Amino acid sequence: TAPKIRINGVEYETHPEFTNISGTIHNLCDRSLHLKPSHPIGIIRKLIEDKLNSTGNAYSIYNDFKPVVTVEENFDSLGFPSDHPGRSKSDTYYVNDKHLFRTHTSAHEKECFQNINAPGIVSDSGAQTSKPGFLISADVYRRDEIDRTHYPVFHQMEGAHIWSRSKEMAKEGQEPAHIQKLRTELQTIEKQLQGESMKIEVEDDTSLAGNPKQDYMSDVEVELCSQHLKRSIELVVAQVFNKKVESMGGVTKDCVLPVRWIKAYFPWTAPSWEIEVFWQGEWLELCGCGLVREQVLLNAGYEPSSTIGWAFGIGLDRVAMLLFEIPDIRLFWTHDDRFHSQFKEGKISKFKPYSKYPGTMRDVAFWLPDDQTCDVIHENDLMEIVREMAGDLVESVKIIDDFTHPKTKKRSLCYRINYQSMDRNLTNDEVNAIQENVRNELVDKYKVTLR
Ligand code: PHE
Repeated sequence: TAPKIRINGVEYETHPEFTNISGTIHNLCDRSLHLKPSHPIGIIRKLIEDKLNSTGNAYSIYNDFKPVVTVEENFDSLGFPSDHPGRSKSDTYYVNDKHLFRTHTSAHEKECFQNINAPGIVSDSGAQTSKPGFLISADVYRRDEIDRTHYPVFHQMEGAHIWSRSKEMAKEGQEPAHIQKLRTELQTIEKQLQGESMKIEVEDDTSLAGNPKQDYMSDVEVELCSQHLKRSIELVVAQVFNKKVESMGGVTKDCVLPVRWIKAYFPWTAPSWEIEVFWQGEWLELCGCGLVREQVLLNAGYEPSSTIGWAFGIGLDRVAMLLFEIPDIRLFWTHDDRFHSQFKEGKISKFKPYSKYPGTMRDVAFWLPDDQTCDVIHENDLMEIVREMAGDLVESVKIIDDFTHPKTKKRSLCYRINYQSMDRNLTNDEVNAIQENVRNELVDKYKVTLR
C-alpha cells in the first residue's frame, strides 16, 4: 500500500500517480501569515474586512480553513470542465487523487453558502451565519515559476453576498422586497463611496456583449447586483489606497484613482469581471469577480431560482507588496525579526531594506531525453526541484536558451538560477552544493543529459 502523509494533523493516503507535494509546501502550510495582526498580509486582510463590514456588518468571517480540500470543492462544485488546465499536475499540488492544496479560496464557497442557508451554524469567528455574506481569507497553492513576485503559496480573500428572492407577489406598483432591499443597500454603499476622501474614477464597459447574464436573473437583478458588487470593491480600493497615500504623507483630498472594469470568465460566475487599478503608471490587476452561477447555489442545497448573489476573489500578496513597498515576495516568509519588527497592526508603512545581500548566478544546461516514454519535463517541475533544493535561497529561475539541433533533432535547454538570500551572505561552497543537488535530481528524475 502507498505510504501515508500527515498534513495539519490529518493523515492522507498518497497516490503513486497524483501525489506531487514537496517538503517546501509541507513546511509552509501551517504558517497562517494572514492571521498575524502585524504582518503585511494580516494588516491588509483586516483592513478589507473592517471596511466591508463597516456598512451593515453583513459578512461572516472565515479565516481558519485548512489548505487541503477535495477535488470536488476546488473544481467540480464550481463547474470547472474536466479538461481545465488548472486541474493539471503541473499546475496544482495533489495530496492524492481526491485531495489537493486549494488553488483558490473559491474552494470554500460551497460550504459557506451552505452555512448561510442553514441559520444557527456558527462560523469560525463565532459569528452567527444568518448573515447574507461571507469573507474567507486563506493561503492558496500553485505550482509556478520562480521570481520576485511568484511564490508557490500566496493569499486570497474570497467575498460573497446573496439575496433571497421574495416569495410573495409585490404589491401593485411596487417592486419585490428583495429588489427594494438591494436598491437601499446599494444607495448606502454609494453614499459611503462619495464620502471617501480618495475619489475613484471608474471606466466601465457595462455592455454584456460576450459576457452574458444568466437566464434565471432579471435585467434589474443583474443591474443592481452588479452595481452592488462593483461599488463594494471600489470601496475597498478607495480605503486601501487612501491609507497608502496617507502613509506617504500625501493628502487624498481631490486625489483621483483611475480604475477599470474588464470583462472576464470564470466557470462559477456570469457575468464576470476583473478590476484593474492605475497605480504608479501601471494597470494593476486586483481581483476577479462576478454574479454567482445558479448551479453553485444549487450544489450548496439552495432551491432553484430562490437566490441571487455575487462573489469576488482578491489576491492579497501583490497588494501588500505594492503598499508596503516590499521588493521580493520571499520576505513575507522570512523569520528575520528585522523584517517583522517594522510593521504595526492597522498601519501601512514603507519597508526599509535592512541590507541587500549579493546574489550569485549558476546555469544548468541539459539535453532532453529523446526517449519519449520518459516524462517530458514541465517548466514547473524544474522550478519545483530548485525550490526543493534551495528553499528561499533562490531568487529567480529563467530560461536563457532553448535550442533544437538541426540534424539530431535533440533539444537542449539552459536555465539561469540566481541564488540570493534575503537574510545573509551565501558562501560559494553552499551554492555549489545546492547546484550539484539540482543537477543530480534533474538526471535522476527526468533522465536529462547534462551539458
Ligand atoms: N478564484 C478566482 C481566482 O483565483 C477569483 C474569483 C473569485 C473570481 C470569485 C470570481 C469569483 O482567480
